[in-house]
Amino acid sequence: MIVAIDGPAASGKGTIARRLAAHFGLPHLDTGLLYRATARALIDDGGRLDDPQAAQAAARGLSLTEFDEARLRGREMGEAASVVAALSEVRAALVGLQRDFAHRLGGAVLDGRDIGTIIAPDADVKIFVTASPETRAQRRALELRARGESVDYAAVLDDIRKRDARDSGRATAPLKAAPDAHVLDTTDLDIDGAFAAALAVVERKVRGAAGRD
Ligand code: DC
Repeated sequence: MIVAIDGPAASGKGTIARRLAAHFGLPHLDTGLLYRATARALIDDGGRLDDPQAAQAAARGLSLTEFDEARLRGREMGEAASVVAALSEVRAALVGLQRDFAHRLGGAVLDGRDIGTIIAPDADVKIFVTASPETRAQRRALELRARGESVDYAAVLDDIRKRDARDSGRATAPLKAAPDAHVLDTTDLDIDGAFAAALAVVERKVRGAAGRD
């Protein structure tokens, strides 16, 4: 079973994907980490975020097993990732490994922006997780503070809006719900509620596929 979870920053998609993967015993890939690691490698090498060739080389050099999440999760790297993710050269360099991960025997859960549309349009279950920008900014500010970053809510909200506009407005693989995705709005849900709702969607699909629904 391939489960594709897409949505904007801080919608809850990462936690939902991780918990679904644990529940079904499936491997999970947070594809945002690939773009974050590409931006990190580029910056570490002194490259510019808008240099397509250097960014593509950085993306090609990634290894799925070598992510230092602590260095990738911060606010700055989310923004930098969104810039390199708009380059078609970077997306082309990363598409193969994501498709391989999705189509491994036994299935997988992937979360990102274009899983249900580009990486695995054949996914068995597609969920597009969303929430209001204000709610997402509150969540992201709490998460960043818990990591020790000193952040202010207004700046985080501004980042979220800019990132939404960039991720949705880019020409290649923009953030959008696949036509056959189930849209899950988590604005008024806590994480347990959001997970329960996502699990219900997956279980309904599984039952449907088995002809019991
Ligand atoms: O999910 P995240 O916040 O870690 O993602 C960081 C950025 O990476 C996001 O703003 C856009 C980009 N991204 C993407 O373009 N496609 C994906 N499948 C995942 C992330």
